[in-house]
Amino acid sequence: MNDAQQSIIAYCRPGYEVDTGNELTELATQKALYGYPVFKAGEGYIRFQFHVPEHAEQFINEVAVSDTIFPRQMFLVLASIAIEDKSDRIGPVLNALAQSDISRCGTLFVDYPDTEDGKALAKLCRKFAVPLRQALRAKEYLTRKEQLNLAALHVFFTSGEACYVGVSQAKMRSPFENGICRLKFPPKAPSRSTLKLEEALLTMLSARQREAICRAGARAVDLGACPGGWTYQLVSRDMHVEAVDNGKMADDLMATGLVDYRAEDGFKYRPQMGHVELLVCDMIEKPDRVAVLMANWLTRNWATHAIFNLKLPMKRRYETVRAAIEAVGSQLASANIKTTMVIRHLYHNRDEVTVAVIRKN
Ligand SMILES: C[S@@+](CC[C@H](N)C(=O)[O-])C[C@H]1O[C@@H](n2cnc3c(N)ncnc32)[C@H](O)[C@@H]1O
Repeated sequence: MNDAQQSIIAYCRPGYEVDTGNELTELATQKALYGYPVFKAGEGYIRFQFHVPEHAEQFINEVAVSDTIFPRQMFLVLASIAIEDKSDRIGPVLNALAQSDISRCGTLFVDYPDTEDGKALAKLCRKFAVPLRQALRAKEYLTRKEQLNLAALHVFFTSGEACYVGVSQAKMRSPFENGICRLKFPPKAPSRSTLKLEEALLTMLSARQREAICRAGARAVDLGACPGGWTYQLVSRDMHVEAVDNGKMADDLMATGLVDYRAEDGFKYRPQMGHVELLVCDMIEKPDRVAVLMANWLTRNWATHAIFNLKLPMKRRYETVRAAIEAVGSQLASANIKTTMVIRHLYHNRDEVTVAVIRKN
């Protein structure tokens, strides 16, 4: 058994390897599973090496990607493969699987890191996936038809000559290629920021939560709204939005009649009717200040739910997020408010994370 066989791979935004490593170290330690991250800065992924092989498996079975902040995708490593003969990349993958005891998988991911070097592998991955899928089906490592409720097989190319092969469980993995939720920019949206809230609504809320919260006629407040990318997402779901910012809102949005623009300070603003269903906030401010503001809105019942971004500092980003989240969590706990909290470094985020605090009934 080589080292890689007791590890997991976690993809992340390039530059966030330290944060991903710190997060996985803490999550593992909380479960009395011990290991350490192995990475090169800027490579867009880390390998988390456990001291005991069973610990890697336990971790991947117990920690979903959606429970984490920085990982975009995670899988348990079955083998690390150095490809010696570029004319046969399938043989080594099949050999590695023959030495494992995996049960038949329902789907295949052939991925690469989200780096400039990684992007050069996109074509190779696309071309390789077709014959690999056929070979895996012939050997019964993969079901004939895709079955997304089964385990997935992952082949992750780190270069043209090296890849990791691994598995993930259905409810624990990201459903997206490369762990990236790609979205088309809506042509009428006033800013690219719109994609951050769209990704958050699509990936951090369940379909049921989305329908219940973003329903036609429901009210929302958008703090730091201009030029209106987030408001656009809410208005396109027929919500009424109080848009708070000193900047200028896009005229198209104002013309919908669904936007009540308020040129006020987001830290002092109060909802016009005393309460809204959803508070969203994208103000560029210190994360601890935003965290307290969000907790105040929720504990005073000015908003039922909140989705907000925390802008990250250059260093100690994981620790900064944890501190802000703990501040929100302890304020909610003191007020006996039960919520689910999802915190994600989304693909469309840059140096920020998105937090969704959804109140339980
Ligand atoms: C990143 S931009 C928001 C982009 C917006 N979410 C969109 O999708 O178009 C941040 C905004 O926060 C606003 N802002 C910063 N501090 C604020 C405050 N104290 N009160 C209200 N708005 C504030 C800025 O004027 C700026 O327009």
